[in-house]
Amino acid sequence: MMEIPITRPHLAGGEQEAVAEAIASGWISQGPRVREFEAAFAARVGAADAVATTSCTTALALALYVSGVGPGDEVIVPSLSFIATANAVWHCGARPVFADVDPRTYNLDAAAAERAITSRTKVIMPVHQVGLPADMDAFFELAERRGVVIVEDAACAIGASYKGGPIGSLGPLACFSLHPRKVITTGEGGMIAVQDPAVAERLRRLRAHGMDTSDLARHAARDVVVEAYPERGWNSRMTDMQAALGLCQLQALDHILRRRRELAERYTAALQQIPEIEAPYDPPYAQRTWQSYCVRIAPGASIDRNELMRRLLNEGIATRRGVMAIHEEASYSGPDIGLRHTEAASRETLMLPLFPDLSEEQQDYVIERLATCLLAQAA
Ligand SMILES: Cc1ncc(COP(=O)(O)O)c(C=O)c1O
Repeated sequence: MMEIPITRPHLAGGEQEAVAEAIASGWISQGPRVREFEAAFAARVGAADAVATTSCTTALALALYVSGVGPGDEVIVPSLSFIATANAVWHCGARPVFADVDPRTYNLDAAAAERAITSRTKVIMPVHQVGLPADMDAFFELAERRGVVIVEDAACAIGASYKGGPIGSLGPLACFSLHPRKVITTGEGGMIAVQDPAVAERLRRLRAHGMDTSDLARHAARDVVVEAYPERGWNSRMTDMQAALGLCQLQALDHILRRRRELAERYTAALQQIPEIEAPYDPPYAQRTWQSYCVRIAPGASIDRNELMRRLLNEGIATRRGVMAIHEEASYSGPDIGLRHTEAASRETLMLPLFPDLSEEQQDYVIERLATCLLAQAA
């Protein structure tokens, strides 16, 4: 029996040496490699600048904070997302307000988001779910018309594009994750793509206790530097060891995206022969990252999602449930808010193994066992 994990980070080679060099240089915390990684990242996603952080969650909280979000405010988010989307709003003292998703793309529906706007709404936060860009034109139009700000949760979307524009180049603030479950990784880490240089400068202060002088600037100074703290901040600093890893990963990004796409297309072709499983919808306006391959159990299928996952696990194949519904968790539950598409998607979807180093032989095994598990149930 083969053992197939849900994912495995792709290491291009050279990462160990790069991290060892960072350690040998003495720059172990945030230093020149973080600056270099930020510049390379910004160039890759077409942003004016990029600010590194400890995670996408801290990136989102900082992005919301500089967008003016604070206690008493509301931020509209999809419930169909990883819980960090809502936690980041809470970290700012604000309230996440959940709106439903489009049933085909699983991304926040702009019309549903508009219905959730109140006088307290400061920000709408679309999520580019599993690396598929949300319909950004609709959100930018809505933001303009209703006077709210867009912050993008682009955790899974490095390398994705919307109508030809890379995610990271479109809105004022887009936040990426560098966790190993994502497209590229620094172990833990996040990045904020920023268009306004003044906002980028403020974010760099806020991530370092609100201090007006970076360690890099102090190190380069020829005179004594007495720092000041013009506002309160956090510690959300990435280390140079992580940035060294990230620079190697960025070089591998095109290969990673190509390989993910090839494997996703192979799955989609094979699923045409398995009517009980629906392949993901691929809208023409977006180039996605295929951070996950999310399938849906067709209506009337002979098996439920969890039973199928259990059978695949017995065959050595790791899967994960589809994206969670945050409002169904005890930590965010409230009165029934009628998120019909969110609840159905969360119940009926699952992720199949997909990562750049998955071999076609392994993928064929997944497809074959998937078909067998469904047939066994139908018999
Ligand atoms: C949509 C979404 N937002 C935010 C996050 C949080 O990312 P991180 O683990 O880097 O904080 C994740 C990661 O799991 C995610 O999938």
